[in-house]
Amino acid sequence: MIRVRQLTKQYGDNPVLRGIDLDIGAGQFVVVLGQSGAGKSTLLRCMNRLARADGGELQVAGIDAMRARDERALRRQVAMIFQHHNVVPRLSVLKNVLTGRLGAVSTLASSLQLFRRADVDLARQCLARVELEHKAAARTDALSGGQMQRVGIARALAQQPRVILADEPVASLDPKTARLVMQYLRDASRELGITVLCNLHQVDFAREFGDRIVGLAHGRLVYDGDAGGLDDAALQRIYPTTEEGASNRLAVPATLHYANGLGG
Ligand SMILES: Nc1ncnc2c1ncn2[C@@H]1O[C@H](COP(=O)(O)OP(=O)(O)OP(=O)(O)O)[C@@H](O)[C@H]1O
Ligand SMILES: [Mg+2]
Repeated sequence: MIRVRQLTKQYGDNPVLRGIDLDIGAGQFVVVLGQSGAGKSTLLRCMNRLARADGGELQVAGIDAMRARDERALRRQVAMIFQHHNVVPRLSVLKNVLTGRLGAVSTLASSLQLFRRADVDLARQCLARVELEHKAAARTDALSGGQMQRVGIARALAQQPRVILADEPVASLDPKTARLVMQYLRDASRELGITVLCNLHQVDFAREFGDRIVGLAHGRLVYDGDAGGLDDAALQRIYPTTEEGASNRLAVPATLHYANGLGG
């Protein structure tokens, strides 16, 4: 479903992705870990062309994400969920979910906000998946943060994507609400066979929800495996210590030693 080869991306003279190789099968739930600035968001943004990669290859849902001329086609297949549930506060919950269908309806219909019965039914089914069907008519700004993020998930599902990219979807929620939101996302992915790539800062959630965990450090892949392999050594590669007093062995290898063995 996703094939990445030697992907590179630089902002000015700052190399952000330094040769990423990754293959993700259909329906996998992959959690991406890495400290701030590691390149997690950039990797996700390259996948739906919010950012342009500089080099390498990138296939997402059968589309060449680096060269495809039709960005709309790519974004129909690839839905995105952000940290700040980018819902429209004034709109009803149902209308917010229906905006997930806009890529699939004609420009005229979408400018008039005309939705087919089938789209409305689909939107309601997606709300039912996150157990918010009873809120369909409510104004979205009357919901809690966790509920808004569930609306964000429902909207992504309404798009009927093959891939969902979730960039820290639970970063602004309390732990209990965050777990609930992760459960909705994981269950929907399993039941619908949607491939998910989810950036997280919570290692415990990565262990709990990731079929597979990918660790990035300084733009390179430094871990790729399951929760069982995420031991202290792996965590030190993902979160290299750079403070004074830390041994060089931990500060340097993310870019030097581990790159070769792990395909980074
Ligand atoms: N639009 C941009 N212009 C210039 N530099 C950028 C841009 N986006 C990201 N960067 C830089 O690229 C590097 C990686 O950023 P990225 O947002 O991918 O990290 P991240 O792993 O998602 O971090 P965080 O956990 O804080 O979200 C950082 O050094 C950042 O400053
Ligand atoms: Mg980020």
